[in-house]
Amino acid sequence: MNILVTGGAGYIGSHTCVELLKNNHSIIIADNLCNSKIETLDRIKQISNKELTFYQIDVTDASAVESIFSSHQIDGVIHFAGLKAVGESVSKPLEYYYNNIVSTMILAKACITYKVNKFVFSSSATVYGENKVPFVETMDLLPTTNPYGETKAMSERILRDAAKANPGFSVSLLRYFNPVGAHESGLIGEAPNGIPNNLMPYVTQVAKGKLEKLRVFGNDYPTVDGTGVRDYIHVVDLAEGHVVAIEKLTEGVHIYNLGTGQGTSVLQLLQAFQEANNIKIPYDIVDRRSGDIAICYADASKAERDLGWKAKRGVNEMCRDAWRFEKGYDEEQ
Ligand code: NAD
Ligand code: WQD
Repeated sequence: MNILVTGGAGYIGSHTCVELLKNNHSIIIADNLCNSKIETLDRIKQISNKELTFYQIDVTDASAVESIFSSHQIDGVIHFAGLKAVGESVSKPLEYYYNNIVSTMILAKACITYKVNKFVFSSSATVYGENKVPFVETMDLLPTTNPYGETKAMSERILRDAAKANPGFSVSLLRYFNPVGAHESGLIGEAPNGIPNNLMPYVTQVAKGKLEKLRVFGNDYPTVDGTGVRDYIHVVDLAEGHVVAIEKLTEGVHIYNLGTGQGTSVLQLLQAFQEANNIKIPYDIVDRRSGDIAICYADASKAERDLGWKAKRGVNEMCRDAWRFEKGYDEEQ
């Protein structure tokens, strides 16, 4: 297939581009590089030994999007482009609603106009809010605690309504749990701007000596050791999930959890990181972070049943690969 990948220079997008190329798909990346680097494109080519087409455009720019659709025969779209910092979405709600929702609407409209029938969307486990674990695709969604989460829930509704009104336009809503790790080459991975908000990049930066100590947000949750439990998924497993999701997309709207189904606490992840990499990570226990839930993990059985996809990589591999990337990462690159 000829696949338009928005946000393809970003963390999850770049790993997915590698897997798409590996599976002999052609890719066109549209990214404005607001949270990624142009060098990532060379690394995707280097890993896969294949070529790709790149447009540096903002996908909220309808005419720029239209010009891509009018000049390429596109078979499907994977829409990763979006702003994703939960805390920033609280202080900049309009930027988040505009970027994440307008982009989804413009791309869906272009697909319908140009009869591009396959649309895969990056949603998030955050749409489950404080439902009971494990989260199942059939659950009613609960309000999230931040505008970022609302942009995902709204984008899902917009795409569902667009598919209902336009038979043929088929949508896969992929709800990711906590993506971590990096490609085994160490060439692509997660490189957040500034101080990381998420656990794994924070840990790797402490390991590198860029940050002094990890702060563990709360040890009084009703969990195995009191710290927050999450379903960490290796980014390459997640990327492989996108390949099958687009290849096997059938008419209608399909929702899939992409997680492992396993919960890991903060202290368990920390322990695994220290053991996998033989590095000590100093930490302090501090107050809970506002907006955090105690436990989040997937019922990942639907993706396995329908798509034959299952996450294969464990927490040790996630820790090893995340550290390999951070070790070799030079911000000046
Ligand atoms: P990322 O920031 O690394 O990648 C997003 C990419 O989109 C970046 O390259 C950025 O430059 C680009 N982009 C943003 N707005 C754009 C616009 N208007 N036009 C063109 N390009 C634009 O993030 P990621 O972690 O790879 O996440 C990809 C998607 O998955 C996002 O939609 C995110 O909300 C979603 N998601 C991420 C996580 C996670 O923990 N990383 C979890 C669930 C869902
Ligand atoms: C994981 C655990 C923290 C940092 C976020 C978004 C979610 C999705 C994935 C996009 C929690 C604890 C963290 C630290 C810590 N993104 N922690 N010290 O919050 O589960 O999910 O990213 O869709 O929408 O909310 O991920 O990595 O920030 O936190 O103790 O410095 O680690 O409290 O229990 P989270 P995270």
